[in-house]
Amino acid sequence: SASEKGGWSSFMAKEITENPDAVANTVRGRVVDGLVNVPELSELGDDVLRGINRIILIACGTASYAGMVGSYAIEAWARIPVEVQLSHEFRYRDPVITPETLVVSISQSGETMDTLMAVKFAREAGARTLSICNTQGSTIPRESDAVVYTHAGPEVAVASTKAFVAQITALYLVGLHLGRVRSTLADAELRRLARELQELPAKVTEVLKTGPAVAQLAKWMSDSQAVLFLGRNVGYPIALEGALKLKELAYIHAEGFAAGELKHGPIALIDHGQPVFVVVPSPRGSALIHSKVVSNIQEIRARGARVIVIAELGDASVLPYADEVITIPLADPMFEPILAVIPLQIFAMELADAKGLDVDQPRNLAKSVTVE
Ligand code: G6P
Repeated sequence: SASEKGGWSSFMAKEITENPDAVANTVRGRVVDGLVNVPELSELGDDVLRGINRIILIACGTASYAGMVGSYAIEAWARIPVEVQLSHEFRYRDPVITPETLVVSISQSGETMDTLMAVKFAREAGARTLSICNTQGSTIPRESDAVVYTHAGPEVAVASTKAFVAQITALYLVGLHLGRVRSTLADAELRRLARELQELPAKVTEVLKTGPAVAQLAKWMSDSQAVLFLGRNVGYPIALEGALKLKELAYIHAEGFAAGELKHGPIALIDHGQPVFVVVPSPRGSALIHSKVVSNIQEIRARGARVIVIAELGDASVLPYADEVITIPLADPMFEPILAVIPLQIFAMELADAKGLDVDQPRNLAKSVTVE
């Protein structure tokens, strides 16, 4: 009902505005004396955490893209090889699992059957299992050795928004906890990143202000036949998520690509007027990666693409080649996905709305898929 939506036009619109709280509530209580400390992880035992030699993140859909972001962070901070596998692929490929393997499942509902079966499989094969979940008392946490709950609050819209940013937040917490316990990050770095994590909710609130401009863009683009998304490094999973949101909500053919793959195939798709969103990495991270993405933008622009960039405030290098610029506040480059995804969530919702579609209940989809 309208009252449940608190005056919003849809649950999705309401849940997008709850993104800052989802991050804040997931971090709350997990930074102690300036350092990330997740008690639920300590339950696995610090010796166990120090002995892990491989992490496999398993999930489906949007949660798998949260996993991809997390894989960059955990690997960089905790110096453990991390990979992401779709739950339904993981289980049937005869994976190598040892007692030093940590299998981390990510599920908003905690009921996704593909992920549940993968967790049971991992446990029986002898892995340690950790669940990242948004639903207290659901099945996947009960089947896992430990659980780190995300605190996004109930998510009603079928397309995941605030639960996604909460999942990424939880994975940052896991990465920083492991970096501390395994001493792979210096104390000053652990403190700086913990502080930045606490500053993220205010920055997410700032990004929400792009809403009206993004809505206008969505209206102009509502007759698009296909939309492409490019990203690199932690921006790559955000390109995938931007494309998935558009498919789910607006029924538009959308594809996300790693920007570095452009020349290996996708550039053939670029024709006059083809809309392309580009998630531009911060120049304060790797200047090299940043310049490579700027070159990609020049290449597609020269072939007629309509380029919409998401770039950090003050990044003037993209301005000459962009048709539209959406700016996000400055953050540690590892944290940018949480900021960059917000305009893409809004874009998909507004475009679906402009087409007169039901944004909370897209056709053929279910909030939680409880069959294999
Ligand atoms: C369904 C939903 C997606 C969601 C996926 C995983 O397909 O439509 O939005 O990302 O399930 O859901 P989970 O509850 O496991 O995060």
